[in-house]
Amino acid sequence: MPLSETLRAPVPAERMSRVRESPSSRVADRVRAFQAAGRKVLPLTIGEPDFDTPDHVKEAAIAAIRAGETKYTSANGTPALQRAITSRLLRKTGQSYATDEICVGGGAKQLIFLAFVATLNEGDEVIVPAPYWVSYPDMVTVNGGRPVVVATTAADGHKLTPGRLREAITDRTKWVVLNTPNNPTGAVYSEEELRGLADVLRAHPHVSILCDEIYDEINFGARPVPSAVTVAPDLRERIFLVNGVSKAYAMTGWRIGYAAGSARLCGAIGTLQSQSSSCPSSVSQAAAVAALDGGREFIDRTVRIYAGRRDLLVSGLDAIDGLRPTAPEGGFYVWTDSSALMGAVTPSGSTLASDTDLSEHFLETSGVVVITGDSYGCPGHFRASFALSSDAIREAVAGLAHSVSLLRR
Ligand SMILES: Cc1ncc(COP(=O)(O)O)c(C=O)c1O
Repeated sequence: MPLSETLRAPVPAERMSRVRESPSSRVADRVRAFQAAGRKVLPLTIGEPDFDTPDHVKEAAIAAIRAGETKYTSANGTPALQRAITSRLLRKTGQSYATDEICVGGGAKQLIFLAFVATLNEGDEVIVPAPYWVSYPDMVTVNGGRPVVVATTAADGHKLTPGRLREAITDRTKWVVLNTPNNPTGAVYSEEELRGLADVLRAHPHVSILCDEIYDEINFGARPVPSAVTVAPDLRERIFLVNGVSKAYAMTGWRIGYAAGSARLCGAIGTLQSQSSSCPSSVSQAAAVAALDGGREFIDRTVRIYAGRRDLLVSGLDAIDGLRPTAPEGGFYVWTDSSALMGAVTPSGSTLASDTDLSEHFLETSGVVVITGDSYGCPGHFRASFALSSDAIREAVAGLAHSVSLLRR
């Protein structure tokens, strides 16, 4: 065999052609390049709380290390974490879940991915309302499924309506994804809206519902955020409720997510975990117990701060001619309609023909970075995060106002 043959690196599987790099890491590379060139950047791209993990959570992790909780655990988490999760679910949804009806993973992201691995056959369809969290479609396609993207409208509050859901369901539909509060729009489904969707789903027993509630504690309206399982407990076996500690407790780096659903699905996910990661980090699990069992002081304090920043960012964007922000009901992003700026001409004479053109114009002229709407399946918009200080928000808004003022329309 020639030497060149023995040196050949593994050829990526065909399925790799179905996954794209996450838009947020692409933007992060662009920001790094700008910073390396000595230019100031104001990132409105941040997808995680800027707060530090609460002290009592860190202390619990340190205590766990000292107590020798440093070994493998069951794939579905330690008994202490399972207890903390089931009590949290009971408090929030009124449903009591048995330990074989929950799963624990390295973040909500891993559990959503594994739910698709465990359930999708080639060609199965997953209804994904747009704007959507960037990862859903790629997670579906890499696992052989077909994302069926259903556009929502501003008039419907960027939410899937019963009529649109009914139209999108086929014999091949396996899942519908509901993300409430939504990333990127901040939309929260009301009980009434969930009831309407549940009515449609009752007639289609082959469709399951993946409810991603990772932002549920960061909400500016009714608490708790209504959950599909509370509104339609009869569909409980078909609902996969996903959550985690990342956003509520500023614990993105600890990588703990959890989910509740049928024992069959949770068992399948447990099997996949046992053959891939074995279990989530034992130390992070101890930290997650402290977070879930701790009081609400951290959440209440941070939500108050987020609310102030939200108002600042929404009113700042709203004052810029050509931008139309939607005030989010939850999460820490402002979804902004920028379609009025398409076709405008930059000082260098180029015409803005896409979201990327506009975001490049912002970056070039004021250093402000946003994530483009096309990344979320909804061009003509951008997402701006308010997981940053009020001063940084004011500076970014001033930068955007300057960038927009330079355009000829
Ligand atoms: C809608 C949505 N779901 C899930 C996740 C993943 O969260 P985790 O850190 O628990 O993996 C994110 C993270 O940005 C998200 O925005």
